[in-house]
Amino acid sequence: MKLLITGGAGSLGVSIVERLLPQGVEICVIDNYATGHRGALPAGVTNLSLQEGSIADKDFVDSIFSSF
Ligand SMILES: NC(=O)c1ccc[n+]([C@@H]2O[C@H](COP(=O)([O-])OP(=O)(O)OC[C@H]3O[C@@H](n4cnc5c(N)ncnc54)[C@H](O)[C@@H]3O)[C@@H](O)[C@H]2O)c1
Repeated sequence: MKLLITGGAGSLGVSIVERLLPQGVEICVIDNYATGHRGALPAGVTNLSLQEGSIADKDFVDSIFSSF
């Protein structure tokens, strides 16, 4: 399963990532780090991709959908 989590470096996002990564889910996080923190997410994990940008940026979001 593939999962795209917006705001994934925030409170709820980090909880979802920590719950689902061990289950083998491939996760892509979009976050602009407005209030969230990159360090809150595990580093160097194969199944976790961090994409910095805003969900208000259509071209950015479209590119994530295309690649992920
Ligand atoms: N057990 C609990 O009680 C519990 C658990 C989780 C969260 N909460 C609370 O619930 C509330 C909501 O949590 P949350 O995780 O939704 O909020 P949050 O603020 O923790 O996370 C929002 C995330 O979205 C990102 N973001 C904001 N604008 C963005 C944009 N335009 N594009 C991309 N990313 C963007 C922020 O940088 C942040 O990482 C918080 O007050 C939190 O404290 C409580």
